[in-house]
Amino acid sequence: MATNIKITTPSDPTLVPFGRLVDILQAAFADQDDIVDPPSSAKLVDVVELKWRFSRDQLFLAQDAAARVVGQIWVEDVGKDAYLYKLAVDPALKGGGIGKLLVETACDYAKKAGKDNMRLHVRIELVGNVAFFESRGFEVAGEGIHDGFERTTFWKMARRLSGS
Ligand SMILES: CC(C)(COP(=O)(O)OP(=O)(O)OC[C@H]1O[C@@H](n2cnc3c(N)ncnc32)[C@H](O)[C@@H]1OP(=O)(O)O)[C@@H](O)C(=O)NCCC(=O)NCCS
Repeated sequence: MATNIKITTPSDPTLVPFGRLVDILQAAFADQDDIVDPPSSAKLVDVVELKWRFSRDQLFLAQDAAARVVGQIWVEDVGKDAYLYKLAVDPALKGGGIGKLLVETACDYAKKAGKDNMRLHVRIELVGNVAFFESRGFEVAGEGIHDGFERTTFWKMARRLSGS
């Protein structure tokens, strides 16, 4: 269990460790390099992009007892629904419940904001991630194709928030 983990929602960008967030994203997605096609956009992320995202979206940080950032999830307002992306946990702490905690916090936030569903995209190759999101109440709601591909490359998943 993620007992010593706190979830925070920074509002001041000067207090966000954007470099650490980039490092976590690159480390967390590194072992998908030879699995997903096309490569994950998380590999190309940089501080400039995250600062821009911070000005638009809601960021949740997971911090350990020493206030070190060990995970992140981003939530975009997409009208009647919310969309979560760039969920990543420090690989050294994988499997400790931090991912679950981040997803539940993001869903609580979106539900309180009156959103009907939380949505996300997950690559079809990442069956473990699909199972992870199914265990959090998400269902496959559609499929998508990256530009230049002629086959399904990702699933669209959704979790109902209203009435839950
Ligand atoms: C996916 C991710 C965020 C999960 O975070 P985490 O802290 O490791 O997950 P948790 O400890 O909360 O795990 C929750 C459950 O899902 C399971 N699980 C997590 N990732 C899994 C995977 N890839 N394959 C199979 N099961 C997985 C865990 O075993 C656990 O099950 P349990 O509660 O029955 O023991 C994390 O592994 C990660 O950063 N992965 C790389 C980045 C990524 O793929 N992000 C999602 C993009 S769609």
